[in-house]
Amino acid sequence: MTETPPVDDWATDYDLFDADYIKDPVPVWDDLRERCPVAHTERWGGSWMPIRYEDMQALVRMVPQLSSRDPLVVNTPREEQDFDPVISEYGNSAPPISSDPPNHIPERRVILPMFTPKAVEQYRPYTEQLCHDLIDGFIAKGSCDAALDYAVHIPAKTIAHVIGVDLNRTDEFVGWVRGLLEEGTTDAAKRNKYRSIIRKFFAELVVARKAEPKDDLISHMLTQEINGQPIARNTVIGMCNLLLVAGIDTTWSSIGSALWHFSTHTDDRRRLASEPELFPSAIEEMLRFYSPVMMARRVTEETQLGGVTFMPGEKVLLNFPAANRDPEIFEDADKVVLDRAKNRHIAFGIGSHRCAGSNLARMEMDAALRIWFERIPEFELSDPEAVTWAGGQVRGPRHLPFTFPV
Ligand code: HEM
Repeated sequence: MTETPPVDDWATDYDLFDADYIKDPVPVWDDLRERCPVAHTERWGGSWMPIRYEDMQALVRMVPQLSSRDPLVVNTPREEQDFDPVISEYGNSAPPISSDPPNHIPERRVILPMFTPKAVEQYRPYTEQLCHDLIDGFIAKGSCDAALDYAVHIPAKTIAHVIGVDLNRTDEFVGWVRGLLEEGTTDAAKRNKYRSIIRKFFAELVVARKAEPKDDLISHMLTQEINGQPIARNTVIGMCNLLLVAGIDTTWSSIGSALWHFSTHTDDRRRLASEPELFPSAIEEMLRFYSPVMMARRVTEETQLGGVTFMPGEKVLLNFPAANRDPEIFEDADKVVLDRAKNRHIAFGIGSHRCAGSNLARMEMDAALRIWFERIPEFELSDPEAVTWAGGQVRGPRHLPFTFPV
């Protein structure tokens, strides 16, 4: 990533890709909440960043003034997008996340039934076996990289299994998604490269499943209708692209952040190991405290919030992670409380675009953490300096060197 000049004033010149901010954004949010709840920057194409929980509630209702068509946090001019021949043929949208009314709700209805709490339970045995197999691969050594040897594989293989794609290629899928969401957020050429690889991959798969349907999600999607019409090929390609992209970095980050927390907070680790009934509330607390995902909207009509005016073409960030630390909403917002009773966090967003995969993400987190704690109840970070974090659109640890007793 390009080096950028240091920030003097986070209220007027914030930098989402500042290395210290990625490592620990909380002091910046605390400062902004006090003195400037709607910050602005010219960096990365320019954007506005409201901080408070109540602002997120207001922003998600500002439809159609704020559009979802381009939900990345970097404001890339349109002429730098869409130039790729593969993208021109197979489309650049990722429905329903990049859709506005009237298309959004009918498209979302295609996805939702596939990810109800009941529907995702059918994938639990696969995910649990996977967690055991991964741990079998390193437990005898007494050490592992919990981000790369464990956390990343759980969402990558589970979503590949759900969609119905080749499970031997999941390392490649992770590379594509990281290319798009990590390196690609600040580099439009890279982003287009990985977007077109993903689209081409799914375009070929759509042809294959049309010819020979299987018992998988792609084949099921191809039988769906939207507004009484058979679903379009490019809609299915865009939806599969979204499920792969939305399903990997996000849940990898949540599982990784939780493991990082328990490796560095011995009291919480011991408590969860000895009180497994706390898993459901502990998982929600991890989602609140280490919320990984930030989204963006593009302004289509002049709109006001918190004393500032958003102009057409500008970007407004939805900082769900900061909102989840708002002391107006959460008692002891800056503390991890494993048995927090009232936790209305918005890690999965809020409003009409709220995460359609939240039940799958929760099932994966539950399997990943329970099985880890069952098999490795004692563990610690072996080299805190070697921990690295990705940030920007999705924040989470990418290297977690752990040791544990054999
Ligand atoms: C811990 C993991 C996850 C987090 C924190 C997360 C977060 C989010 C957020 C914040 C949004 C809202 C977007 C917006 O308002 O523009 C969203 C949307 C979405 N997510 Fe997730 N997500 C996670 C995992 C997943 C998984 C595993 C899947 C699917 C397999 C998924 C599929 C989707 C889809 C399809 C949407 C679009 C919904 C719509 O636009 O109607 N997500 N997610």
